[in-house]
Amino acid sequence: MNHIIASVAAHSAAVKEFQIRRKDGAPLPDWQPGAHIVLRFTAADGSTFENHYSLVGAPGAAHVYRIAVQREEHGKGGSRCLHDEFGPGSEVEMSGPFNSFPLQAPAPLPAAKDAAAASRAAAEAKAAAPRVLLIAGGIGITPLVSMAHALAAQQRPFELHYLARSADRLVLLDELRALPHATIWLHVSQEGRRADLEALLGTHRAGDSFYACGPAALLQSLADTGARLGWPAAAMHVESFGPRAQQDDAPLTVELSLSQMTIEVAPGTPILEALIAADVFVSYECKRGECGSCYTPVLEGQPLHRDVCLTPAMRSAGMCTCVSWAAAPGRLVLEL
Ligand code: FES
Repeated sequence: MNHIIASVAAHSAAVKEFQIRRKDGAPLPDWQPGAHIVLRFTAADGSTFENHYSLVGAPGAAHVYRIAVQREEHGKGGSRCLHDEFGPGSEVEMSGPFNSFPLQAPAPLPAAKDAAAASRAAAEAKAAAPRVLLIAGGIGITPLVSMAHALAAQQRPFELHYLARSADRLVLLDELRALPHATIWLHVSQEGRRADLEALLGTHRAGDSFYACGPAALLQSLADTGARLGWPAAAMHVESFGPRAQQDDAPLTVELSLSQMTIEVAPGTPILEALIAADVFVSYECKRGECGSCYTPVLEGQPLHRDVCLTPAMRSAGMCTCVSWAAAPGRLVLEL
């Protein structure tokens, strides 16, 4: 184990912040907004876990990394283990930071002929500044906190929309409210303030972009609503969590038409992982249904789509094997 937990603090009944540092006290690598780390740790009963956590706080140089972990009662056990068994001095194995959810730089101003033209262009750009929206569903707030810090440091105004079922699920609000250039909207469904995604996104204007993190269903609704309102795919940046391969899925038989193989995939195992284990040549990148790299044509069977990146046309002809499954009777023929 190369790192230890430096401190733990509760942000709510279900969310704890863990600060992590190197065992030797040396500085950690600089990190960028949207970055995450991979933590490996072992429970008292010997179970091992490998989980991804977004880094929280102001990006850049660091001696400690902050993560906020929501205790998932019905998850695989990693969050319960961290909450119940890990405290200051506990050892963890850490790798990263990695970044598959980067904050894009603003579009540059066109070159101006002279200083007066440059200041006119800057004033016009400010008046028509593109909107930057940060949209969080529940604990999906974590990568957006670092984006909020970065936007504030760059003096780029932004809107933060924070969606949660109840107010006690909103965390890190004091830190967010202290940031300049932020307009914060809370959408708490139990208080009758459910987010209206159409109103929230509005019609797309040149340069507008959003960054969203939350359950796959929220991200899919945002993508569908954005597409209806003219948002180009390149302006919609998402990072998902939530339904992946699930233990209560039906068993699945996957037949590969080109390599003439049949693979039985156990519930809870991503199809992509079963393909990799069987030495099938496959492409992939995010393994979270966000990039489309694992897209595979489906020749027979009915996929159960759980990605957040495919268009309806793509879904009618194929699937993302990293997150999607099959509707009953649990048989797919893939063009692989
Ligand atoms: S690997 Fe990115 S969508 Fe499957």
